[in-house]
Amino acid sequence: MARKIIAGNWKMNLNLAQGAALVKASDDYLNANPAKHIDVIVAPPAHQLVQTVKLSTNTKLSVVAQNMCAHENGAYTGEISASMLVDAGVELVIVGHSERREIFGEDDALLEAKLHKALEYDLYPIFCVGESLEQRQAGIHFKHIEKQLEAGLKNFNADQIPHIILAYEPIWAIGTGETASPEQAQEMHAFIRKFLTGKFSATVADETSILYGGSVKPSNAKDLFSQPDIDGGLIGGASIQIDSFLELIKIGE
Ligand code: G3H
Repeated sequence: MARKIIAGNWKMNLNLAQGAALVKASDDYLNANPAKHIDVIVAPPAHQLVQTVKLSTNTKLSVVAQNMCAHENGAYTGEISASMLVDAGVELVIVGHSERREIFGEDDALLEAKLHKALEYDLYPIFCVGESLEQRQAGIHFKHIEKQLEAGLKNFNADQIPHIILAYEPIWAIGTGETASPEQAQEMHAFIRKFLTGKFSATVADETSILYGGSVKPSNAKDLFSQPDIDGGLIGGASIQIDSFLELIKIGE
C-alpha cells in the first residue's frame, strides 16, 4: 500500500522563528498524538533547511527541500545541489512544482534530470504535475498530465518508481481558494494510478503515493483525503498556520 503523507510546502514564507515554532508545534502534537498511518513532512525555504533538520532530528517529522539543481557542485550561482541537501540532512525534494515550471521556466527535460539526480543521491522526489485552467476547459487535462508523467518518468524502471512520490496539483486550484472537487481529484488520481499500472505494474501503482495539492484546508481535507486514490496532501497556504496544519495532520491520520 502507498504511504499516506501530509506535506507542508511553506513556499517563500516564514522567518526562522516562525519556522521553528511550526516545527515545535508539530512535534509536540505528534508526541501527544502519535501518527500511525501518515508521514508528516515539511518543506521550508532553503535558508531554513539546516535549522529545520536540526529541530526535526529524533522527531516524527521529515524535511523536504522545495527545489534542487540538476547539476553536480560547481559554478551555478544561486543553486543548491543534491549533495548539499544530503549534507544538510534533507531526505526529500520537490521537483516540478508548477511555480517552478510556470514562473521559472523549468521544462520537462530539466525536471527529468532533477528526478534522476535526486534518486542518485537517495533523495525522495515529490514530482508534481498539474494542468492549467485553460487546459481543463479545453478538455485536454488528462492528455497533459500523461505527457508530464511520461516526460518525467520515461527512463525509470519499476523498482525506482516507489521512491518517487507524485503530487497532482491543478494549477487553477493553487492558492486560489478554489479546490478541485473530491470527484475531480479522485478521477485524476485514478488516471495517474492507471498510467503507473500501464507503464510499470499494478504493484508499482499500488505502492506509489499520489498526493493532492491545491487549496487544501481543514474544511475540505476530509472529503479529499478519503478518496481511494488520494494518499494525502501537498499543502501550501494552510500549512504555514500552526492551527490549520495540526488540524490537517489530524484529518490525514
Ligand atoms: O505545494 C503546494 C501547492 O502549491 C498548494 O498550495 O495549498 O496554497 O493552494 P495551496
